[in-house]
Order: sequence, then C-alpha cells, then structure tokens
Amino acid sequence: MSSSETVTKAVEVGDAERAGSVRLDRVTHQYGRGRETVTAVGPVDLTVPAGEFLVLVGASGCGKSTLLRLIAGFEQPTHGSVRISGAAPRPGQTAGVVFQSPRLFPWRTVRGNVDLALRYAGVERARWKERRAELLARVGLEGMEERRIWEISGGQQQRVAIARALAAENPLILLDEPFAALDALTRERLQEDVRQVTAQTGRTTVFVTHSADEAVFLGSRIVVLTKSPGTVALDLPITLPTGKVDADELRESAEFTELRTRVAHAVKSAAAA
Ligand SMILES: Nc1ncnc2c1ncn2[C@@H]1O[C@H](COP(=O)(O)OP(=O)(O)O)[C@@H](O)[C@H]1O
Ligand SMILES: [Mg+2]
Repeated sequence: MSSSETVTKAVEVGDAERAGSVRLDRVTHQYGRGRETVTAVGPVDLTVPAGEFLVLVGASGCGKSTLLRLIAGFEQPTHGSVRISGAAPRPGQTAGVVFQSPRLFPWRTVRGNVDLALRYAGVERARWKERRAELLARVGLEGMEERRIWEISGGQQQRVAIARALAAENPLILLDEPFAALDALTRERLQEDVRQVTAQTGRTTVFVTHSADEAVFLGSRIVVLTKSPGTVALDLPITLPTGKVDADELRESAEFTELRTRVAHAVKSAAAA
C-alpha cells in the first residue's frame, strides 16, 4: 500500500482519529533513574486537530524538544499516552521531522539527499524524478539538484531538510527550532515559505521555537509552556489573516504587534513562575 493510500484510509476513520491529528493524554517524560531522575515535561494534555499549525513556545530547557520527540515516537512517555491519527507513533514514519541543524549528508548532492528520503519513504524509483522536482520547487531550490550540501548556504541546507521532511507523504510535520541558527533575513524568508508550504499541503504542523515573533507569524495556535517540567501555561488561538497576505504588512500590523507582546509576556512569566 502506498503512503497516500494509507492517508486516505486513515481519513475515513472519524474526527478524533483524522490523519495527522495529535493527542497527548496526561503525558509525562522523565530521563534517568533513581536519584538521577529528571522530569522534563508534564503532565501535558494536548489535542491538535488535523491541519492545524501549532507552535510550542517556551524558555530553553522547558521540555519543547522532549515533547516533539515524544510526538515523533523517538521517546516513549513515562506516563500517559501519545496518539497520532489514533495510533501509537512509529519513529521515522509517522511524521517528517526538521531539526535545528539540517543533518544532511554533506558530501552528497541536493538530489542525493532528497532521493535518500524518497527511498526511505518507499516512493517507487520511477516517481523520484517528478517527486524530487516538485519538492525542490516547493522549497525554492529549483535548479540546485547537482550542488553539494557543503556548497550551499545554511538557509538552503535547511530548505533541503524541509524538502526531505515533506518527502514522505505523511500528514504530520514536526520542526524543532529549524531557523534558530540562521540570520534574521534568511529566517524571515524561510518563515514565509514554511507558512505557504504548510497552507498548500494542509499538513498538521507542530513547530517549536523560543521566539514569540516567530510563533505569532507562523501559528494558527500557540501553546506556551512553563519552565521545566513543561506544562501548558497558555493555549491561544491566532486569528491573524491567513492565505495570501503581504508578510511585511502583517508583521507591521497592530494586531501582530499586540499578539507578539502578549506571547512574549506569557513566555517570560511562564519561565519565571
Ligand atoms: N537525553 C537527555 N537525558 C537527560 N536529560 C535530558 C535529556 N534531554 C533533555 N534533558 C533534560 O530535560 C529537560 C528538557 O530538555 P529539552 O526537551 O531539550 O528542552 P528544550 O527543547 O525546551 O530546550 C532539560 O532539563 C534537559 O536538561
Ligand atoms: Mg530544544
């Protein structure tokens, strides 16, 4: 069965289990044992409906990456349960993941890196060329196929990482501070592109950041976490205009500025509480 067939099938099973929906019930995660035990997150209850763009914001060390790894299935919760589309997450299969550093194969070409993702995603070789072109166009890397990773900029490398995460046609994409290491201008461009890409593909997105500005620009909903062990301090729907809007106009609007201030305050007081 191809992954798109799997997606179609999952869509038929009802709202609570819609493809790409995320559900955390009383999730706690601890690292270590005995006296060395660190409770990193929880308890967290969180439901992300299919198609939502959720941004998790919180101070460094509050458990954002842990939460994302639990959703990806890279870690198992110590208590509680994680369900994706109604089932337990399967690491490497349930979600496309983008990390802060791109984690590409530097000696390979852009094409080689994307093809590897297509192979892991189980896409038939006959479809690679078409699918690769589509993915690279989507992240603004047309014509870069033969460049080696060490020959392209940090921003372009992160674009390859995003293309790779989109390669598997799963309905969930997870991003862990993907733009934190980039310069401000590149970061803004990538934010604009991610906003468009996710709107076009309709995938559920969970995006981690410590930037209130980034959260408000990207999210259709923002969840602010308390300091470690992170729990939900604020759950805020974002009602800024979506779709075709001028990014600069949006960033300069009164609504944007007001929301950014509100989220920044919430992050600060959640970190201090
Ligand atoms: N592999 C690990 N082993 C032990 N402790 C860890 C591990 N990963 C994270 N932690 C601890 O868990 C807490 C949350 O970390 P993390 O999820 O990385 O937070 P964030 O991504 O918000 O900065 C921190 O106290 C951190 O030191
Ligand atoms: Mg982190």
